[in-house]
Amino acid sequence: LERTFSIIKPDATRRNLTGAVNSYIEKAGLRIIAQKRILLTKAQAETFYAVHKERPFFGELVEFMISEPIVVQVLQGDDAVAKYREVMGATNPANAAEGTIRKDFALSVGENSAHGSDSLENAAIEIAQFFSGNEIVG
Ligand code: GTP
Ligand code: MG
Repeated sequence: LERTFSIIKPDATRRNLTGAVNSYIEKAGLRIIAQKRILLTKAQAETFYAVHKERPFFGELVEFMISEPIVVQVLQGDDAVAKYREVMGATNPANAAEGTIRKDFALSVGENSAHGSDSLENAAIEIAQFFSGNEIVG
């Protein structure tokens, strides 16, 4: 059993798609064991995406992530990290497989509706950035 960290991004919350995204998560057999709606600060967004700070799209990415509320979540299930990456689909919705969150909802490579941790190690780091232990009920 694994845990991964998920964000429903501003393009999705803005279009009232929180429940729609959650239904893809639950249909895949992942359990939402922690969830809250928050507005990221610029500092939080810059820390969260620090690995991309040299990328040309970094500024745009940070501005997008703080533009509207997001929903942060902890997902639990068998193989949760890889499974959620599969449910999300490719970063660019043009390359995302049928039936994935990004294929069905993303607007562009930047406004791509969902984030999911890319490794078990990063999942633990990202979960700790947003949730205290007593907010996660597995
Ligand atoms: P995350 O789950 O959000 O980390 O997506 P990912 O792991 O599929 O992609 P990656 O970590 O490479 O990029 C992080 C995020 O940066 C993406 O989800 C996009 O929102 C954004 N991003 C990536 N490439 C581009 C780009 O070329 N232009 C813009 N505007 N944003 C991008
Ligand atoms: Mg990533």
